[in-house]
Amino acid sequence: MTPTSSIEGLMRAARIVPVLTIHELVHAVPLAQALVAGGICTLEITLRTAAGAKAAEAIVASVPGAVVGLGTVLAVRDLQLARDIGCAFSFSPGATPELLDAAARENHPFIPGVATASELMFARDRGFNVVKLFPAAQLGGISAIKALAGPFPDALFCPTGGIGEQDFANYLAMPNVLSVGGSWLASAEDIRLNRWQQIEERARKSVSKIQMPLD
Ligand code: 3PG
Repeated sequence: MTPTSSIEGLMRAARIVPVLTIHELVHAVPLAQALVAGGICTLEITLRTAAGAKAAEAIVASVPGAVVGLGTVLAVRDLQLARDIGCAFSFSPGATPELLDAAARENHPFIPGVATASELMFARDRGFNVVKLFPAAQLGGISAIKALAGPFPDALFCPTGGIGEQDFANYLAMPNVLSVGGSWLASAEDIRLNRWQQIEERARKSVSKIQMPLD
């Protein structure tokens, strides 16, 4: 199995991966329940807050149907944390040789971030052809993905950064885009104000706009 074979299947099934930054542990389970109820089951919980890891753990333990990954994985110890919690995958905004080697060694589904052709070459050389393009919109969005498809026809993208309700379906219509990520489904304010019903409805509306899962 290559480092990317299982992650490709996960992202093909997911298509939309909300990027969730959870400040209060008490929000973790109702937030995940709302998204799953709305049809979005694959969730990225970022390690940007003190509550992040515990929030991921709580969702893994208490929300049936949720497929939980860690985001903002910056160091090998974050990958180990993901494995210890029982996360299905991890995202990083970038990559280091240490992270790529550890993910390959542990056979943990890991999506490294890339922002340039050289970074993509570096990831591919280690067997990672499923990559996150980050920050996608700021790098040129769909035009950048089209341009990278020329020299890298085997690369598959999970772009995040600056993608919203208005354009996520355009990204997903690209043949080399497996999934998109973003915070538009559950903003920090929505979470802070316990807007679970709105989050569920937004998830349902987003799912209705796309083919899901990808064949
Ligand atoms: C991130 O890592 O911050 C994600 O890419 C989310 O970006 P967004 O808030 O622009 O959707």
